Amino acid sequence: MKIAIVGPGAMGCLYAFFLSRAGNEVWLLDNIPERAEKIKSQGLTLEGPGENQQIPFYRITTAPGIIGKAKLVIIFVKAYDTESAVRYAYPLIDSTTALLTLQNGLGNIEIIRSQCAEGNIIAGTTAHGATLLGDGHIRHAGIGETVIGGVDGCGLQLVKHIKELFIQAGIATVITQDVNGLVWGKLLINIGINPLTAIMKIRNGEIVNYPNLVNVMKRAVEEGAQVAQKMNIALPYANPIEKVIEVCNATAGNRSSMLQDIEAGKKTEIEYLNGAIVRYGESLGVPTPVNSLLTDLVQALEKC
Ligand code: PAF
Repeated sequence: MKIAIVGPGAMGCLYAFFLSRAGNEVWLLDNIPERAEKIKSQGLTLEGPGENQQIPFYRITTAPGIIGKAKLVIIFVKAYDTESAVRYAYPLIDSTTALLTLQNGLGNIEIIRSQCAEGNIIAGTTAHGATLLGDGHIRHAGIGETVIGGVDGCGLQLVKHIKELFIQAGIATVITQDVNGLVWGKLLINIGINPLTAIMKIRNGEIVNYPNLVNVMKRAVEEGAQVAQKMNIALPYANPIEKVIEVCNATAGNRSSMLQDIEAGKKTEIEYLNGAIVRYGESLGVPTPVNSLLTDLVQALEKC
């Protein structure tokens, strides 16, 4: 099956590795020519639990036109780049294409919908943790489920097809009927883990070693849960705090995506995570002081 992944960051390379190794025609669409050339010459390398493998990877390009129409396009750029990524990938999409977002943060589905009249939108979350060690070189730092579901009436058959494709590639995947609840469920995990790991420069699992950090995490996540409740969002788990602690432990060795961004001197997704909670909280009359403070601190860090 022809699959295009937009964005060869940690998660993009992780999924490209598994889907390509399973025999699919996988393309990476990159907007940085030097990086694309490097990955083409060095291939993809995965280090991880029980894995240490390098595979050749020649199908990486900055020119979407040479890929042709793809059956599946996965958007794996940062949330602030979603709009330009969908426009970039537009030549790959027709009415039969499944357009999948597994990105962190709020707003990706809406942006994809606004940019793309064609294609069948599928959204989801991934609980995999991946650290980018270099271009095309990743450490698989946490294994978890991928959950996907159709958006705007995208047919269940297509969603099932993508699920089977992922499972064949060794990517454990399940289907949800409630994409909105799923995305908010992941959002609360990210607002609890990402800013604290970025500010403190610690791995996910270290949060639970510090009662003060657990306290801040709890307050941020409780604010997020109150906003979700006000919006009548059904979270995919009963206890948000317990869930965040569970993810801290399951991805203990991982450096969160926000920590990786800060360490690389890049912009973070804070506006789409804790910043989104603050915006929704303001419009709904739910106070969100902890998320506001965390947003300010991470934005200050971005400028340091
Ligand atoms: O953004 C991340 O790093 C990941 O979504 C998560 C789940 C926090 C694991 O590191």
